[in-house]
Amino acid sequence: MNPAAGKSVNRGVAPVTYGQGERPPRGDYGRARADYTCEQDIGRYTAADHDTYRRLYARQLAQLPGLACDEFVAAVQQLGAPHRIPAFDAISERLVRATGWQIVGVPGLIPEEAFFSLLAARRFPVTDWIRRPEEFDYVVEPDVFHDLFGHVPLLFDPTFADYMQAYGAGGLKASRLEACELLARLYWYTVEFGLIATPQGLRAYGAGILSSAGELPHSVRSTAARRVAFDLQRLMRSLYRIDTFQSTYFVIDSFQQLFEATAPDFTPVYREVREAVARDGLIEPGAVRPGEREFSV
Ligand code: PHE
Ligand code: FE
Repeated sequence: MNPAAGKSVNRGVAPVTYGQGERPPRGDYGRARADYTCEQDIGRYTAADHDTYRRLYARQLAQLPGLACDEFVAAVQQLGAPHRIPAFDAISERLVRATGWQIVGVPGLIPEEAFFSLLAARRFPVTDWIRRPEEFDYVVEPDVFHDLFGHVPLLFDPTFADYMQAYGAGGLKASRLEACELLARLYWYTVEFGLIATPQGLRAYGAGILSSAGELPHSVRSTAARRVAFDLQRLMRSLYRIDTFQSTYFVIDSFQQLFEATAPDFTPVYREVREAVARDGLIEPGAVRPGEREFSV
């Protein structure tokens, strides 16, 4: 359960660029504006595209009870009708009223700085194309289903919404401090693969989990995975895999805790993490740390 570090362990690539570019990114960047956003080309979706969305949505919705956090379950209906790919503008209208966020179309993965700038302005980039039918269970790059279903519901939660904006601003600062690799791990282990402890038990809030049929039950219930309490410095030293289920998840108590733990200036945090890495190394996925409390499932 502790795969040796290989080329699929992401050592330095930000969450918005996934992997080291062995395949050219999908998406037609010619359509994008200078800030990388683009018009959602609704007319281009085929009946098969809408059907893929409908089937993905139905499968995931059925799995949410007992696995997804309450805030997510409460907000998922804000995406609108589940039988076809929704218009981004209609969701934005509701979202602006709820938390001041908007969603904007993008042709695919975008560069780090463009991504951070959008988040800092409370604009969440959503890929506008959908996976092919043969990619139903697994798609390497985020598509419209991952971005909408996974990420958008929690933008309706005021505290999580503030965290996402702070992350964007923090990203711009991390670029100046050359600390994007450390900050990318925070995104990965919270926004994408975070778990939250509730009185009813562990629940998922990360988009990578919530948009994955296999990883949702794995993350919350599988005894093959480890779950440890959120610890910023430990997390920033932790490598992750991008091609298989996570073997370690970090658990928060509340979105308020997450917001407060990440609010202080990270300048000294980055320095301390670098010192710890120089002294004790990076932490492999699934590694056991002495004295670390694990959440039981
Ligand atoms: N507090 C961080 C900093 O000073 C910014 C940040 C906030 C980063 C929230 C991530 C999430 O750099
Ligand atoms: Fe994502």
